[in-house]
Amino acid sequence: MKLITEGLAKISIKTSNKVSKDMDVFYNPVMKLNRDISVLLLNSINKKNMQISLPLAGSGIRGIRFLKELNKGIIKSISFNDCSKKAVNSIKNSLSLNKINNFKVIKKNNNISNKNNHDKKISIHNEDANLFLLNSTGFDYIDIDPFGSSNPYLESAVKRLSRNGILAVTNTDTAALSGTYPNACIRNYWAVPKRDYMMHETGLRILVRKIQLVAMQHDKALFPIFSYFKDHYFRIFFQCIKGKKETDKIPKQHGMFNNAGPLWTGNLWDDKLVNKMHSELLKKSIENKKTIKNNKTTINKKINDNQNHNDILKFLKTIKEESKINTIGFYGIHDIAKKRKIKIISKKEDIIKKIRKKGYKAASTHFSGTGIRSDIAYNKLISLLKE
Ligand SMILES: C[S@@+](CC[C@H](N)C(=O)[O-])C[C@H]1O[C@@H](n2cnc3c(N)ncnc32)[C@H](O)[C@@H]1O
Repeated sequence: MKLITEGLAKISIKTSNKVSKDMDVFYNPVMKLNRDISVLLLNSINKKNMQISLPLAGSGIRGIRFLKELNKGIIKSISFNDCSKKAVNSIKNSLSLNKINNFKVIKKNNNISNKNNHDKKISIHNEDANLFLLNSTGFDYIDIDPFGSSNPYLESAVKRLSRNGILAVTNTDTAALSGTYPNACIRNYWAVPKRDYMMHETGLRILVRKIQLVAMQHDKALFPIFSYFKDHYFRIFFQCIKGKKETDKIPKQHGMFNNAGPLWTGNLWDDKLVNKMHSELLKKSIENKKTIKNNKTTINKKINDNQNHNDILKFLKTIKEESKINTIGFYGIHDIAKKRKIKIISKKEDIIKKIRKKGYKAASTHFSGTGIRSDIAYNKLISLLKE
């Protein structure tokens, strides 16, 4: 067993050399940033008294971090669920390890009072995720974090999402969505992908639309408020607005782009929320630096904590800048240079400066190291690259 600290939470799990779904209890350190962003978003969004649910909770690390790191008043209740008995045991042990003892373990098939059980401040369930959701009275935050596609859980998540709830979805089915397996994308996500330098933005927008279509059947409009692609996964946070009028706005923003789609052509971010998340993180970063300096931790841990903070800060800053530019897609500078036979190409940062000087918006994109998001027209960009 190994003791792991992530954020303010501690968990003790059996370690494995390889992170895979065959692990006894699933914990993936690479997803720390995914969890960091969930904490940051919930601390920035101005919602109180939330009924939170984690239908695929794994080791429970995300929920424990919510309990320890979310601002006072945000959590009304939190329900952990996992179909694995070992995961449920690990959640119980980890809660105790973090000195959280007021949880209730809900027995399987406890149908008589099943619905009320979700009202407990902290409850742990051992069901199939869909049964867990459908047996509940609903939640203000549902986090779908499966192995692979989010498809099997969308219908029940959407049904049990409250009128103004937040739906968070992780999807690691990147090969289908990014165009390696076009037929799988058509079957599972009802759209044609495209494998090029923009494939991750295209894939994300196809996924957004697919989830919106499922929600539309329940008169629920899902608007992305924060979404991204990273490492091996897509992540989207949606704000739900219940009602026919809002829902009718959604399909009006579905269309084709770059011979791919249909896909979501609307915003991927709520730029005010992104600003708030970025400034909250900056504040935390300064506090953290002070604590790290004063703490009697090892040099290695100090370097590690600092590095982690810098990584997420850099990632969020890129998204903050690109969220201000209202375009679908971006320019792949290397791709353009190759196609137009432009031999000498300036550094990305210099091109961005040049575009801005001409009065257009421009920024890096988190989707690609060599991409530039800008509202400059293609032909104008070509002339500028040739200057
Ligand atoms: C990717 S892991 C979750 C990781 C976790 N959310 C975190 O942040 O660390 C997926 C989890 O879903 C559980 N699982 C898989 N299929 C399930 C199902 N049908 N119902 C409930 N849990 C399921 C697995 O046991 C596993 O713990």
